[in-house]
Amino acid sequence: AMTKPLRIMIAGAPASGKGTQCELIVEKYGLTHISAGDLLRAEVAAGSENGKLAKEYMTKGLLVPSEIVVKMVIDRLSQPDAQENGWLLDGYPRSAEQAQALEVAGIRPDLFILLEVEDEILIGRVVNRRMDPVTGKIYHLLYSPPENEEIAARLTQRFDDTEEKARVRLATHCANVEAVIGFYKEIIQHVDGNRPKLEVYADIDKLLIDLQKKESEEVPSK
Ligand code: AP5
Repeated sequence: AMTKPLRIMIAGAPASGKGTQCELIVEKYGLTHISAGDLLRAEVAAGSENGKLAKEYMTKGLLVPSEIVVKMVIDRLSQPDAQENGWLLDGYPRSAEQAQALEVAGIRPDLFILLEVEDEILIGRVVNRRMDPVTGKIYHLLYSPPENEEIAARLTQRFDDTEEKARVRLATHCANVEAVIGFYKEIIQHVDGNRPKLEVYADIDKLLIDLQKKESEEVPSK
């Protein structure tokens, strides 16, 4: 391919729609989706030492210590699929320390998307979110209900999706987001996430089309 693989970061408060938008982006652009939360939940499910420790923080709505997440994410980013397809990094970095570690590793995105949604709407999204353990797809009991009874019957809820925990996760996000944004000032794009998911996606798609255009102009064709 003549175009260079895209490298995208997507950030936003809990339930701002990062995972939902990532599903849509991956469908069209084929980027390797790397979600820090998903990687951590996989560790928790595997019952590893890191997973056990991570779960204590996740249950409280706090950031998992950098000793666990930094290496985990950097290792994942350096795998061949991410290098070849480009990557879509979801929920990372979430602190100045994590952003700094990426800088040191020479890992920079082309675009940093920040989804913006008001607090009270976020809480309503969290408590009615459900996951399909078979496909990994994200649902909402009101806004994105399951397609059929069979899927509805197998949906699960995340252990940190209570209102109380969501409020702590939100506070954690607010305490850190400015510091993270500071690293990506030149490439940040704010997207209003408080609209139906396909409207939100239409804006993101435009950003990615523009970016691809720009990248293909910069890479000399062979
Ligand atoms: P993580 O899994 O990343 O959770 P989060 O940031 O709280 O984000 P969510 O997954 O809750 O939300 P989302 O933005 O993906 O929204 P979704 O698309 O699902 O992290 C979990 C924990 O892991 C953290 O608390 C922390 O402990 C740890 N962790 C993760 N990253 C870390 C890091 N870098 N460092 C340290 N620790 C880390 O949508 C939510 C709901 O809304 C769904 O039901 C969906 O259907 C619905 N919805 C989505 N879009 C719309 C829309 N436009 N309109 C209506 N409903 C919508």
